[in-house]
Amino acid sequence: MQPPYLKYMGSKRSMLQNGLGELITREVEDCSRFFDLFAGSAAVARFVGEKFPVPVVANDLQQYSRVLAQAILHRVHPLKGAEIWTAWDARASKKLNAALDAPRDFRTASDIARHREWSARQIGYPVTQSYGGHYFSAHQAMAFDAYRSTVSDDVVIGSVEIAAIIIAASQCVAAPGHTAQPFQPSATGIKFISEAWRRDPHARVRDALMGLAERHAKVIGEAHSADANELVLNTKRGDLLFIDPPYSGVHYSRFYHVLETIAAGECGEVSGNGRYPSREQRPKSDYSLKTKSLVAITNLLEKIAVQGASAIVTFPDAECSNGLSGEQVREVAHQLFRVEEYLVQSKFSSLGGRSDGQNAQAGRSARTNANEIIFTLRPA
Ligand SMILES: C[S@@+](CC[C@H](N)C(=O)[O-])C[C@H]1O[C@@H](n2cnc3c(N)ncnc32)[C@H](O)[C@@H]1O
Repeated sequence: MQPPYLKYMGSKRSMLQNGLGELITREVEDCSRFFDLFAGSAAVARFVGEKFPVPVVANDLQQYSRVLAQAILHRVHPLKGAEIWTAWDARASKKLNAALDAPRDFRTASDIARHREWSARQIGYPVTQSYGGHYFSAHQAMAFDAYRSTVSDDVVIGSVEIAAIIIAASQCVAAPGHTAQPFQPSATGIKFISEAWRRDPHARVRDALMGLAERHAKVIGEAHSADANELVLNTKRGDLLFIDPPYSGVHYSRFYHVLETIAAGECGEVSGNGRYPSREQRPKSDYSLKTKSLVAITNLLEKIAVQGASAIVTFPDAECSNGLSGEQVREVAHQLFRVEEYLVQSKFSSLGGRSDGQNAQAGRSARTNANEIIFTLRPA
């Protein structure tokens, strides 16, 4: 079965097949623990956890990332996916009775409006109330709520189930690859909305669950939602740290709040076209502030140097919208470590941010061809 992966714009999944996987394979051999400090989709943490007998510690400011990582890292045995699915689907089906009168058509702008109106009335169904008729059809949103509210009380199984909903939702979302802005029901937008809303949430949740259930780590690891600059104080000589920090001048939490709602199982008031929760409820990062990003990365690398750990850092070889550039990362790294570097071709998403600050004009997917530098840092 194909490994189930999150639809996530900044994922290192393809780079793992393009040099990064080989490099990690070489470096991980002698390390005592592997840290993925900015785990995002958890692609790298999962790659290492599934392949090597080394404890993996995954970390990200966002909760959904922790859930995705722990679904694999907290187990060293496969789960019985089919049994778990049958029981879970039966529990969720009962909840779905509440969706019997949900609108089904989505051919016109008035159909879409009916999805929005119906969804807004579904108190106690956070995905539906906040995002139904926007990112998901009313039925898709109700299905995600039904699965989310009936996850197992068993912590290990429950986290695999929540991870499956997060993955399924990322694949169904009617948006260009993240959840900053749903497609709107304009003459051209309707086509994209109906493409996304036709995706079957049940089949996607089932497939993600089955794929996750058969995978597991070689040894038990950890998953955290913390500031990387704090967590790094727990590292020591012998640890290998993977560092893929933000390069966007817009906070990541603006793009992945739908997944965060599913992870948390609740959502506050949302507003605007993007249906964002208020700023106070979204994690902020110094790495996404032009005035603080250089201090943040410098401070991180200094701490790693003091702890005596080794690291692999990836960064686009360009000036990024958070004001950082590959050149600046290189300068800081050379002051603190013995450094080797490699260049790989990649397509990175600016996540709608632009280095000239004109974020509103960046276009929705804003994917840019750029080389990515991989630095290996060893204690000096
Ligand atoms: C470039 S993405 C990482 C992508 C990831 N390597 C993958 O393969 O999916 C950067 C991540 O850093 C997280 N982040 C931002 N500031 C952080 C901080 N101070 N500490 C930990 N994580 C942070 C963001 O939430 C985002 O998921």
